[in-house]
Amino acid sequence: MSEFDFSKRDSFGSKFGAIAAAAGSAIGLGNIWRFPYLMGENGGAAFLFIYLGFIFAIGIPVMLSEFVIGRSTQRNPYGAFKILAPKKHWYLVGLMGVVAAFMILAFYTVVSGWTLEYIYQSIINGFSGKQTTELGQMFDSFKASTFRPILWFVIFMAMTTYIVISGVKNGIEKYTKILMPLLAAILIVLCIRTITLPGASEGLKFIFKPDFSKVTTYTFLQALGQVFFSLSIGMGTLITYGSYMNKKDNLANTAVSVSLADTFVAVLAAIAIFPAVFAFGIEPSEGPGLVFKTLPNIFQQMPGGYFFAILFFVLLSVAALTSTISVLEVIVAYFSEELKMTRKRATIIASASVSILGLATVMSWGSLANVKIFNKNIFDILDFTSANVLLPVGGLLIVGFIGWFHGYKMTKDELSNNSELKARYIPLYMFIIKFIAPIAIALVFLNGIGLLKF
Ligand code: PHE
Repeated sequence: MSEFDFSKRDSFGSKFGAIAAAAGSAIGLGNIWRFPYLMGENGGAAFLFIYLGFIFAIGIPVMLSEFVIGRSTQRNPYGAFKILAPKKHWYLVGLMGVVAAFMILAFYTVVSGWTLEYIYQSIINGFSGKQTTELGQMFDSFKASTFRPILWFVIFMAMTTYIVISGVKNGIEKYTKILMPLLAAILIVLCIRTITLPGASEGLKFIFKPDFSKVTTYTFLQALGQVFFSLSIGMGTLITYGSYMNKKDNLANTAVSVSLADTFVAVLAAIAIFPAVFAFGIEPSEGPGLVFKTLPNIFQQMPGGYFFAILFFVLLSVAALTSTISVLEVIVAYFSEELKMTRKRATIIASASVSILGLATVMSWGSLANVKIFNKNIFDILDFTSANVLLPVGGLLIVGFIGWFHGYKMTKDELSNNSELKARYIPLYMFIIKFIAPIAIALVFLNGIGLLKF
């Protein structure tokens, strides 16, 4: 075990690479699998409006704060807080991020594995001739089985591990630079296919015409949780990626580009899905089964469906892969810089230990289906606690740190690249992270978990 040599620390090679990697982290199953079903359950456009409000008021400021912490220290989240606040306990925020990374990677890779099964099923034409209920059963019994979900989980984990072992520039950046344009191209093709279906306009109305009767206070928690989850904020992923960014990059620019790209993809995913859902007369509020039950049904009825089904599930797995690598990188950066492991060793130990938790998570509908807390199975517990608890709490502490402890001048120097950039937005940004973001996060969070009732 040797000391980590910080003078040889890896970094992104270009501005485009940095944006592609961060957007790759943000754009994932959250956008294509989670966002559309949350929208379906929460009044369509009504959810979208609330979501957009949170992106601007909270999401972008939190992301920018993570970049500041990461780039100013060039360390993993734990080490970054150790440098910025020596002798204080802020490093616990970094550690909490590492814990969140374990939990997210465990359940996220399970769903990522499902996307591989569904690519396979699309290729062998496995949906064809099946009725709605049969397709529902097909998914439910696959999910509850043992061998195949584990196999796909392991394969997905192996791909993630391979990319992360290859390094920041030669692994993460290299692959995201190829995968992100591929993702955009597939998504556009799918959108064109669905909006040209007869009867698609109902679906577009659903996306753009709000139904506020479905909005409850829980909707606000869901929207906030989704903002954190979708932007990959609140747990140090973007502290870690920020730490690999170039000192000349304009951080605000990067944060806004990444957030807008992420939101745009979520809306495009909804456009690729709901017009088809309505064109075939299916209920939009299917929940998590939306893409694995409803869509196969639609694909087998739509002209060219064989081809579009393959494209869709490839899209999902590409989106997932560029996110899993970013979550694994949080753990690897911590292991290699703080626990003095080589990158290779850190990556293998990290993915092996995540896999143990992951294998239990795979069984959430099978042999471990009876393991429940508050009526949630292992998978739902990990999903709920990470998105709705750990990430918002992490986000609150991150903005609290920058807003109240880090000092205006240091923040300003980092955001303006030591006064090379004008960065006129800084007073507004400071106001948001000092007051608006923390109050909004705290209110929505306490209300959502039932500790405060409006
Ligand atoms: N942002 C990713 C998505 O939307 C998930 C993710 C969460 C990735 C947290 C990294 C950290 O799918």
